[in-house]
Amino acid sequence: MSKNPDEDTTAVLLHERRIFPPDPTIRATTRIKDWDAELRAGDDIETYWAEKARAFTWFHRWTTVLDTSDAPFYRWFVDGTTNLTYNAVDRHLTTRPDHVALRYTNEQGAERAVTYAELAHEVNRTANALIALGIRKGDRVAMYLPPCIEAVACMLACAKIGAVHGLVYAGFSTRALAERIRDADAKLLITADGTFRRGKTIDLLGVATEAVRECPSVETTVVIAHVQDPEEGHTNQNVVSYHDLIAQADARCEPEMMDAEDVLFILYTSGSTGKPKGVVHTTGGYMVATATTLQDVFDINDHDVWWCTADLGWITGHSYSVYAPLLLGTTSIIYEGAPDYPQPDALWRVVERDKVTKFYTAPTTIRHLMRFGETWPQRCDLSSLKILGTVGEPINPEAWIWYYEHIGRLHCPIMDTWWQTETGCFMISPLPISPLKPGSATKPLPGIVAEVMDVEGRHVPPGRGGLLVIKRPWPSMLRTLYNNPERYKKTYWEQIPGGVYVSGDIARMDEDGYFWIQGRADDVLKIAGHRIGTSEIESAFVSHHAVSEAAVIGKPDPIKGEIVKAFVILRGGYEGTPELTEALKKHVRHELGPIAVIGDIVYTATLPKTRSGKIMRRVLKARELGIDVGDVSTLIET
Ligand code: WT7
Repeated sequence: MSKNPDEDTTAVLLHERRIFPPDPTIRATTRIKDWDAELRAGDDIETYWAEKARAFTWFHRWTTVLDTSDAPFYRWFVDGTTNLTYNAVDRHLTTRPDHVALRYTNEQGAERAVTYAELAHEVNRTANALIALGIRKGDRVAMYLPPCIEAVACMLACAKIGAVHGLVYAGFSTRALAERIRDADAKLLITADGTFRRGKTIDLLGVATEAVRECPSVETTVVIAHVQDPEEGHTNQNVVSYHDLIAQADARCEPEMMDAEDVLFILYTSGSTGKPKGVVHTTGGYMVATATTLQDVFDINDHDVWWCTADLGWITGHSYSVYAPLLLGTTSIIYEGAPDYPQPDALWRVVERDKVTKFYTAPTTIRHLMRFGETWPQRCDLSSLKILGTVGEPINPEAWIWYYEHIGRLHCPIMDTWWQTETGCFMISPLPISPLKPGSATKPLPGIVAEVMDVEGRHVPPGRGGLLVIKRPWPSMLRTLYNNPERYKKTYWEQIPGGVYVSGDIARMDEDGYFWIQGRADDVLKIAGHRIGTSEIESAFVSHHAVSEAAVIGKPDPIKGEIVKAFVILRGGYEGTPELTEALKKHVRHELGPIAVIGDIVYTATLPKTRSGKIMRRVLKARELGIDVGDVSTLIET
């Protein structure tokens, strides 16, 4: 392996083998100077995390750092009481009231900045408005919102009064939204009149109104005038205007005393079965671990302008657009729009204008923007950037090198962060001073203990693939699946012996202890970084009258990472015409939302199954990719 990157090489070999040492300026300025020493500091996880927890305001200090007595229902910072919004907003009012907390920008060029003092004002009024609507500690509040300042204020208002928020990504369909609201038994839905996307406005209120019809638990729907002027009013009589509500509300609000283990939010994510899982996160540990990891991995300091491009509706938006940056008192950019609209330099224009210092996005976004060529970023002043990051799927070395050369201008390290909705915070990630290998998320962070194991729970030696597991609990781990503790135990803790958390990913560790994530071990696909279960897509297919059976697989795609390929058996009397193919694609999109983009559909008379009737997707996939099918002793085609 060579030591130094060849500075003017654009050609990247298929197997990138260079190691990128930290830039000297980074090494000189970053807070953490010694990676190994920092990792060792995390060996005693309880001491490590307790030390980190001291950085926050607790109304009552915890008595026990970690309670394992009811494993895998772990409890962190037992008996501690705190309030996340107090720590993320109110706490900064004495030290930095006029510092910009959030800077909203959209593809139309609109801007709105709010300081910590202004954010506190808006959060408090929203909190009082929620109380006026009858929302109390523990009540679930669903949100179907675009990325905007009001959305952040609503999340923080819930956390301030102890209500549990449940955001649903605004690209989900009516059916998906209704299913999540019903599962969470939400009393209130907060939505907006619409969202901007590629020069169009997309109606959200219509979807929300239709969804609420199937959700008897929802007592009130609040609508934020986002694309329209609030003065124009709403044609819909059954909704309450957010702006009217907060106009009448008091701007003072005492924080609710929250137990460290009180629920903060529920966020749904796809699993191997058709029913999405309601991942439950709690207060104290989530606060400590999200802020600590952002601080360490991106070396956040007072002068940073932080930009995580994820939508608020995903865990990345929750942890790293909202909670962690605000807990650290930094400035966080909230962006609404497509990365290539109105032009392929949309993101770089924002970096230039707002002097973004730390930028965090998904590999699929980088690959997409790569297609338009490097002249777009070259025309922008990106000199403010210091550290870059990626998340969501493995980053291919070509995209890594492009990001490094054309966005980071050969001096910004790239933090490839591996984590999940369930983990709440970064788990495997470099620090700015780590030597980087493109495509590897490097090593578990301090206080995180990860390993590669086989299905028997045995250690897998370096160089061989296996299941990525987390061996010790960590503060921001999910606590359960909402209303389904059995599924929580079964999915994450009982797949292999030994009481370890099974992530569902396949990984390999190399001879230097670096982890290489290879993708999911279960029937979960990653389409443009979004997680979606094969069975969700299949049930959307079979809900169409022409379809008898369907099986879907993920097929590698140069931009989206994976695309969906569907194998469909039609009912008698139907023919696989191009019109039907279009109709099916539309149908699935309608059922699940625009994230469910179907690449190919092939019509077939049989599907490979086990004798017990389970579809063998791995056989379809192996055939598709022309690779060895493996053990097919149970295979039949019906
Ligand atoms: C799955 C979790 C956590 C934020 C966004 C996704 C994949 C995530 C990486 C990475 C390789 C990654 C894994 C994981 N993944 N980050 N840096 N390298 N794979 O959250 O929707 O819960 O998906 O995303 O497969 O299990 P999510």
